[in-house]
Amino acid sequence: MSPTTPQAPLILAIDTSCDETSVAVTRGFNILSNTISSQVRQHAKFGGVVPMLAARLHEEKIGAVIEIALRQAKVDLSQIEVVAVTYGPGLAPALQTGIAKAKQLARELDIPLYGVNHMHGHLTSVLAKGRSVELPILALLASGGHTELLAVPDWNSVQLLGETLDDAVGEAFDKVAKMLGLGYPGGKVLSALADAGNEHSYMFPIPMKNSGDLNFSYSGLKNAVRLQIEKLKNNQPYLSQQEIQDIAASFRSAAFAHLRDKVSKALFTFPETKTLVLAGGVAANTFLRSQLRHLANSHGVKLVFPTSSKLCTDNAAMIGISAWVEIEAGKKRENIEKLDRVSNLRFAE
Ligand code: KG4
Ligand code: ZN
Repeated sequence: MSPTTPQAPLILAIDTSCDETSVAVTRGFNILSNTISSQVRQHAKFGGVVPMLAARLHEEKIGAVIEIALRQAKVDLSQIEVVAVTYGPGLAPALQTGIAKAKQLARELDIPLYGVNHMHGHLTSVLAKGRSVELPILALLASGGHTELLAVPDWNSVQLLGETLDDAVGEAFDKVAKMLGLGYPGGKVLSALADAGNEHSYMFPIPMKNSGDLNFSYSGLKNAVRLQIEKLKNNQPYLSQQEIQDIAASFRSAAFAHLRDKVSKALFTFPETKTLVLAGGVAANTFLRSQLRHLANSHGVKLVFPTSSKLCTDNAAMIGISAWVEIEAGKKRENIEKLDRVSNLRFAE
């Protein structure tokens, strides 16, 4: 694939799968704008994302976010040649808002519409700016909603090797952060505190060590942390800063050891792998990056992650890039009437 082929169309991409209203303008693998309006503050008081509130806020914001994305890209709406939109996985009412807007634009402008799998967006986010990434790939997609291990022999044929059976890794970080009184979503803050803690202070179990498969589970680890916090609070009203840091470090150590275990097993199963891709919100974590780099090196594999943390967390530029990857491979435009949300969309096993 060449970085930007002359025939690559100007794409307006939309993602409203969760609590970020995002619109991007892309051409090929180039990002002309990537505008994100986050609802995090509005959901924080509920301690998690409220789907109907997310949909209402997307509806309120989407028009303005489109205008900003076009302005930042220095592009007029009439120049847009393709509309791409996330159709799953995600929160059904939230997805619906973006899809409705994308259909309206495609009809008004009389241009093709493409539905994009949000997880294919996370995967192809590493191709931004025309970076070449060698196939075959093993990919770990780690976010607040998903933990997936993928075999990617080709960008357009992705096999799901394993996924979380309960909480996603980012979700577990956010829940433990909440238990420690670090606010929502506290994954990043928790990891920063962990840097100052001792990971050997508490012996939390590494999940599914002998499961024999490539799936993940975080609810047992999360409960072990909850029990430890309750135990400490039996003797004192609140946790000391040192205890918070030590719990954070011990939790992070077990949580990432679990990711490493499964990636390592997959690397042994797929020795032909050339590149290990780490993407999704948790890919912004520098500690995880360095641990996986070490693992990848020991297998003679290159570790690749998105070039900025903005491209790790939910954003529409990755949706534009994913659409281009599929268009270049010959994907047909959607029937506008038929495109519908698939909130539990998954790659084939
Ligand atoms: O990809 P994303 O924006 O949303 C989903 O599709 O879920 O990922 C957000 C998740 C949140 O759980 C957040 O706490 C986590 O990614 N996250 C991090 C870091 N930055 C974001 N977790 C650990 N360390 C970080 N630096
Ligand atoms: Zn995501």
